[in-house]
Amino acid sequence: MSHPTITEQLDDPPRAREEGRKKIEWARQHMPIMTALAEEFAAEQPLEGEVVAMAMHVEAKTAVLTEVLAEAGAEVAITGCNPLSTHDDVSAALDADEDITSYAKHEVDDKEYYAAIEATLEHDPTITVDDGGDLVMAIHEDYPELITSIIGGCEETTTGVHRLRAMDEDGELKYPMFAVNDTPMKRLFDNVHGTGEASLSNIAMTTNLSWAGKDVVVAGYGYCGRGVAKKAAGQNANVIITEVEPRRALEAHMEGYDVMPMAEAATEGDVFLTTTGNRDVIVEEHFERMKDGVVLANAGHFNIEIDLDALDDLAVSRREVRDGVEEFELTDGRRINVLADGRLVNLASPVAMGHPVEVMDQSFGVQAVCVREMVEHSDEYGPGVHEVPDDLDREVAEIKLAAEGIEFDELTGEQVEYMDSWQHGT
Ligand code: NAI
Repeated sequence: MSHPTITEQLDDPPRAREEGRKKIEWARQHMPIMTALAEEFAAEQPLEGEVVAMAMHVEAKTAVLTEVLAEAGAEVAITGCNPLSTHDDVSAALDADEDITSYAKHEVDDKEYYAAIEATLEHDPTITVDDGGDLVMAIHEDYPELITSIIGGCEETTTGVHRLRAMDEDGELKYPMFAVNDTPMKRLFDNVHGTGEASLSNIAMTTNLSWAGKDVVVAGYGYCGRGVAKKAAGQNANVIITEVEPRRALEAHMEGYDVMPMAEAATEGDVFLTTTGNRDVIVEEHFERMKDGVVLANAGHFNIEIDLDALDDLAVSRREVRDGVEEFELTDGRRINVLADGRLVNLASPVAMGHPVEVMDQSFGVQAVCVREMVEHSDEYGPGVHEVPDDLDREVAEIKLAAEGIEFDELTGEQVEYMDSWQHGT
């Protein structure tokens, strides 16, 4: 039996649809890039006849991308890319569209999560849009027969691109994928500003605690870590960075942050936020040194940055002390609070709405033009990970600047010639 859609799983689908529709409309009103692309796509139908399978965080901004792909002529089947980040009302509103089927549901177990991914694949996709790589993995492992009819796909996040590059290096990636994450229009805004703003605001809303005067430990000073650190410092927190990459540790030091190993930071921090995309960043030896009442959260893609199994083993009791906050009490009476089960806090906490709308307008603008590119120029991309062509990224930036009424300079002919030449010297 095939996996049920969200509509088949809800008690009151019409009510959910209505709520979800409001969220989607609000987001769409603030997404000028997606609005401009929607007009173009509706007129030109670049995806006519295509079937898009998506595994993304199913909330309002993602819904706008989903609808724009459907308006471009595609049939779309969507599910979540995280068990906790789906908004059921948004999922129901999408499922009401005759060109879209949504299997995304909030709070699913592992079995249901993968069954929903498989359900999208039963639509025989020709394009895949992924956030984290689970869809691509499912196709390669369980549905390899689909690969011959898949034109290509797009990957949204650092961890997904990392997985795809590892597959590619092993010769195991069998169709072309755009590394959407790696474009300037995505990474310099979504990872930096989006993760910075959304993680901090969600931690604040979930705990109702202030940033001012806190010692905030940020693990990883990559794109996400930079944004979190800057915005925490902007709210008068003292920021401590932990890193494993010497140049990034040095960069953090030169930005004025304290840099130290996690073993030391563990004794200092009031709030800890992991942004590494790696595993076992905060483990038993760190829990043992932490102060009473610390708050731990994760913004990396998977929930393996904080070793919750080890924390559970150390704890004499665990209980929910606020919605989305679980307190682990240790034998010596210290309490350690974990937000959103260690899943990415800006999307999985009970109040989470994900990144700000404007930021996702950019990320999904890149996604939309990449899907169009993959369909229109499929013969130019062989199996493997591909950088997004720079002119597509520029196109999205130009739409955004035009919508904001911001003008900028153009190179003159002489400047172009000068910059392209190696013969001009002193
Ligand atoms: P990045 O590669 O730019 O940065 C990760 C940093 O963590 C690197 O500087 C690396 O040296 C450092 N690192 C790795 N292991 C470490 C360890 N054990 N201790 C301390 N530092 C360590 O990656 P980016 O773009 O910042 O993404 C990080 C994670 O966040 C990824 O999983 C990505 O998929 C995810 N992400 C989450 C978003 C969200 O909405 N919460 C949005 C965008 C990305």
